[in-house]
Amino acid sequence: MFTPQINLFKKSNPIIGKVISNTRLTPESGMGKRPIKEGDSAIHRICISLDHSQYPYIIGQSAGVIPPGEDPSKVAKGASDVGYAIRLYSIASPSYSFGQTKDNIEFIIKRDNIYDSEGNILHKGVCSNYMCDLKSGEEVILTGPAGKKFLLPQQDFEGDIFFCATGTGVAPFFGMIEELLRHKHINFKGNIFLIYGAPYSDEIVLRDYFETTAKEFPNFKFITAVSREENNPFDGGKMYISHRVKELGDSISKSLSNNGKVYICGGPKGMEKGVIEEILKASQSSLSYEEFKKELETKDQLFVETY
Ligand SMILES: Cc1cc2nc3c(=O)[nH]c(=O)nc-3n(C[C@H](O)[C@H](O)[C@H](O)COP(=O)(O)OP(=O)(O)OC[C@H]3O[C@@H](n4cnc5c(N)ncnc54)[C@H](O)[C@@H]3O)c2cc1C
Ligand SMILES: NC(=O)c1ccc[n+]([C@@H]2O[C@H](COP(=O)([O-])OP(=O)(O)OC[C@H]3O[C@@H](n4cnc5c(N)ncnc54)[C@H](OP(=O)(O)O)[C@@H]3O)[C@@H](O)[C@H]2O)c1
Repeated sequence: MFTPQINLFKKSNPIIGKVISNTRLTPESGMGKRPIKEGDSAIHRICISLDHSQYPYIIGQSAGVIPPGEDPSKVAKGASDVGYAIRLYSIASPSYSFGQTKDNIEFIIKRDNIYDSEGNILHKGVCSNYMCDLKSGEEVILTGPAGKKFLLPQQDFEGDIFFCATGTGVAPFFGMIEELLRHKHINFKGNIFLIYGAPYSDEIVLRDYFETTAKEFPNFKFITAVSREENNPFDGGKMYISHRVKELGDSISKSLSNNGKVYICGGPKGMEKGVIEEILKASQSSLSYEEFKKELETKDQLFVETY
């Protein structure tokens, strides 16, 4: 049994990591399927060296990043602490770090920018751009670990696990899949379904890893929902992860009656509703949406982290 430790490092006593690598995972602007007028979708995989004995995280937790510089809105208000607020990022590496030295931590981060109708940048997110611009050898100021609920079973587990992700919500599931199938931190018996939604097929990041893993492990199923390329068979509109969940309704419902678990991660905030509503319909439960969600959460069968 592993117990998550939280807030070992805070803004007043942070920990310093050093960047090992920073790789863009999506095509350069204008080179992929996304039309230029829809802006750029820059998702990076960032690997940072961090001593796990000092920073003992469990996959599913997040780390805080303190971006350097002063927050102009705090300066304008004459605040005493003018530093930027901490931003949280899901830890994407399993506790043992993808076969590298064990003292790394990885993130999957998207530049969070706002574009106009021509695809020009209107506003740039402070911390996501800072992280995606980092070069090898540079230092990053981190806090955490944060979160103690969005976790894998920490004891031997028999049952199916459904990971539902949109966009960078795939980050924790990357590490969780590795932890369950290759690291085997617990004895796991069941199927894993990754249901992963993105706007374009070339924005499904780490596709090679998931496809290779699906070939190697017959109990791992990799399912995508590409919203701006595929239409769903129900109303002919965009294909979302909720439509894939609807297609899998019976098997999710059966799995939930047999100890199964559902994890939902990503954005936009509130997107979990469509997914949970499909599970509720498939379960033919008489509970309301709120009652059903609460019941699954109380029984440790539903975990939601949307942002
Ligand atoms: C638990 C948790 C886990 C997370 N995990 C991940 C993860 O794994 N990967 C990931 O990429 N993100 C993740 N996030 C999101 C992340 O924490 C940040 O919210 C995100 O990176 C944006 O931060 P930022 O500093 O770049 O943007 P901010 O500077 O905070 O800006 C927020 C948004 O506002 C826009 N904006 C700025 N100024 C203006 C303005 N004047 N008018 C209109 N819009 C404006 C920016 O363009 C941006 O879109 C997670 C969040 C949570 C809570
Ligand atoms: N990544 C970040 O840094 C970050 C941080 C904070 C907040 N957010 C917010 O999170 C949202 C997604 O951002 P992203 O760039 O990470 O992801 P993304 O790459 O745009 O992928 C999100 C996917 O989910 C789809 N989707 C939209 N609404 C949905 C719903 N209700 N149910 C199921 N799927 C839905 C999207 O489809 P369509 O877009 O084609 O409709 C898209 O295919 C945005 O609203 C963003 O502002 C992102």
